Amino acid sequence: MCGIIGYVGPRVARDVVVSGLRRMEYRGYDSAGVAVITDGALEVRKKAGKIGNLIAELDEAPLPDTEIGIGHTRWATHGGPTDANAHPHVSGNGRIALIHNGIIENFAALRLELETRGVALASQTDTEVAAQLLGVEVGAGADLADAMRTVCRRLEGAFTLVAIDATQPDRLVAARRNSPLVVGVGEGESFVASDVSAFIEFTRNAVELGQDQVVDVSRDGFTVTDFDGSPAVSHPFEVTWDLSAAEKAGYDWFMRKEIFEQPKAVADTLLGRYTTDGALKLDELHIPEAELRSIDKIIIVACGTAYYAGLVAKYAIEHWTRVACEVEIASEFRYRDPIITRSTLVVTISQSGETADTLMAIRHAREQHAKVIAICNTNGSTIPRESDAVLYTHAGPEIGVASTKGFLTQVAACYLLGLYLAQVRGTMFGDEIGRWMGELAATPPLIQQVLDGLDPIKQLAAQFIDKKSVLFLGRHVGYPVALEGALKLKEIAYLHAEGFPAGELKHGPIALVEHGTPIFVVVPPQGRDQLHDKVVSNIQEVRARGALTVVLAEEGDAEVEPYADVIFALPRVSTLLQPLVATIPLQFFACELATLKGYDVDQPRNLAKSVTVE
Ligand code: AGP
Repeated sequence: MCGIIGYVGPRVARDVVVSGLRRMEYRGYDSAGVAVITDGALEVRKKAGKIGNLIAELDEAPLPDTEIGIGHTRWATHGGPTDANAHPHVSGNGRIALIHNGIIENFAALRLELETRGVALASQTDTEVAAQLLGVEVGAGADLADAMRTVCRRLEGAFTLVAIDATQPDRLVAARRNSPLVVGVGEGESFVASDVSAFIEFTRNAVELGQDQVVDVSRDGFTVTDFDGSPAVSHPFEVTWDLSAAEKAGYDWFMRKEIFEQPKAVADTLLGRYTTDGALKLDELHIPEAELRSIDKIIIVACGTAYYAGLVAKYAIEHWTRVACEVEIASEFRYRDPIITRSTLVVTISQSGETADTLMAIRHAREQHAKVIAICNTNGSTIPRESDAVLYTHAGPEIGVASTKGFLTQVAACYLLGLYLAQVRGTMFGDEIGRWMGELAATPPLIQQVLDGLDPIKQLAAQFIDKKSVLFLGRHVGYPVALEGALKLKEIAYLHAEGFPAGELKHGPIALVEHGTPIFVVVPPQGRDQLHDKVVSNIQEVRARGALTVVLAEEGDAEVEPYADVIFALPRVSTLLQPLVATIPLQFFACELATLKGYDVDQPRNLAKSVTVE
């Protein structure tokens, strides 16, 4: 939930740190702070609010040019967003400055212990407890890395910690458990950060750290141990995207840029994963086909938008593989004592790869001996590392807090997985799989077609400035699309919205409908089943009660026209693939409305891009 960065090397550390914090501000923006070491002492500047407040503070009271520094941008968990609660936190003896991402769950007991020992704490945070414990350790003569290991062994919960010691101006020590940390390796300089966007302008050589590891960093390199001090393995990788990909490229919002990147994001996610005759090639999963054939149940586990992608996946996977597929909210999953066996395949979906609820869910699944496949967009993140296999989406960095290309590529990856399982298990003939893969591979230009025709949505948004609530309806895969459309409106336009299965409305929610109630309806393609006709009936039901109906239906669908106040034509695709085109107008609508309302679309209130606390 927070962005952290540390630097040691020949550049001006203050500037490197601030630059990195800017790139990570989407991770949390309740406060920001920097600490450096100068003449054997720590200097700290920190302010509540967005990073602009810190920069103003630095203008008022500049930090000296030094070659080591740490910085933090916060999403508040324990203790409100105040100057005192901002990181870095300094130990009472002035030796240690510490920044932290995560939650120290046993901080209250540790706080009491410190206070009993006469240590005065200056904040309400859990983080300061770790800073003070480190200060006590080094004050008693412990080496900084040893002190970090000692303290980490006492902490429970999720934490990435980065510490500097005033007496050692050339050394950073960091540790991680259940929270992200990567090392950047430059020429005569080193970085530690929550994610690579913090240092990618300086180096693409990164190292991902594993669970319960401590890294001791100098400008010339690093060493990694576990919490007991034994040498540990780290995993170097090269960052494949460049800084420009993380910039706005002329758009007003990262989110808008990412909406328009979706054709390429989906195409890149499909690339290289099928043969010319449409057979799937997912060797990267490294799971023996025999194991996949032995699966008798699939459970998809995720949060938020990723959960909605899982709901879409359920329809496709069950249709293609004939294997029961449950979809679970990650934060509920392990508390319901789910039935998991060695024949259960758990599929987790996560853009960031750091969502704590999802991470804890897969740990539970693995303890029950399930196989776990992660669908993830972030190389070097925790969830893939803790899964048996990973199917990376290739959406590129998603900076906007509201997920868009993350969702579409998750859906595309789920289709790939579903077709692959059908291929391995022989539940579909090769030519049938080839036809589906061919249609899937043909969707990027159709996504582009939707993007080219969004003007009606732009005009529609202006009519919704004063609306107080919006309903979204859909059936089959249109239902998760309705949920996603509602979530987008909630999270960036701060407008109450609710998605329903269209058939469910008459079982209660239709009481909400009155004259002018705006209702978006995702209409399935016309054709083989009654799905389309049933949804048309649902539109009539709400229209009869005065609803303002915004209908998303495939081009040429004349049946819905009499009941639609606004109609948005979608390219013709199979029902199962419709989320790839139907979601886009809803994403764009939310972005447009939030912009008209003057809200910060990329950093909506109360939210953060990666929810790394349970
Ligand atoms: C998406 O718009 C939301 N910001 C949120 O629901 C997100 O999808 C959820 O927190 C899961 O994140 P993840 O995909 O990184 O695990």
